[in-house]
Amino acid sequence: MKITQAEFVISAVKPHQYPEDALPEIALAGRSNVGKSSLINKMLERKALARTSSQPGKTQQLNYYRINDQLYFVDFPGYGYAKVSKTQREQWGGMIESFLRDREPLKMVLHIIDVRHPPSKDDCLMYKWLKHFQIPVCIVVTKADKIPRSKWDKHMKIVKVTLEADPADPMVLVSSETGLGRDQLWSVIMKAIED
Ligand code: GTP
Ligand code: MG
Repeated sequence: MKITQAEFVISAVKPHQYPEDALPEIALAGRSNVGKSSLINKMLERKALARTSSQPGKTQQLNYYRINDQLYFVDFPGYGYAKVSKTQREQWGGMIESFLRDREPLKMVLHIIDVRHPPSKDDCLMYKWLKHFQIPVCIVVTKADKIPRSKWDKHMKIVKVTLEADPADPMVLVSSETGLGRDQLWSVIMKAIED
């Protein structure tokens, strides 16, 4: 995928701020600090378009990125960060739930999981939610560079089994450090927006 244009559009906190041009949307969901923003930067070949941080819970809104006048990436706020207040957690839940239920241009969610750890309870709940709303999902297992290649298969299997993943869902191993899996993920995305 050749990126000719990539721009940050808006940090949306209310539905009326979502873009209205009906371009297909690909959302990224995952725990705080799992590497959602880093993956966006890698996919777009931009160093710091999406803000990344070693400090979890930084992304609090739906951040829209417009790509090649063809699609949007929507960076969800990370979930599962313990220090977030109950009110904030409920706000997050409400916002994401209505987005998943009502957002017509949404074509796929990239569900991002850290290759180093088995999916958490929150990860399993998120996955169940996505299936419940019948959203096409691609399971993206990231930070591959953090474990030896010899362990990749074993860890991928743990992710699949723990999530009770639908065998029909694509699963891609990526690294935002090395670019592993980038082309494969782009082809999954292009297929999702063409369907
Ligand atoms: P929130 O916005 O807080 O939910 O976090 P996020 O999911 O957007 O994570 P972010 O992209 O900010 O990355 C968190 C940390 O993980 C940063 O220090 C990144 O540099 C690091 N990181 C992300 N992806 C990778 C990867 O593939 N490999 C390695 N080695 N580090 C990564
Ligand atoms: Mg982020």
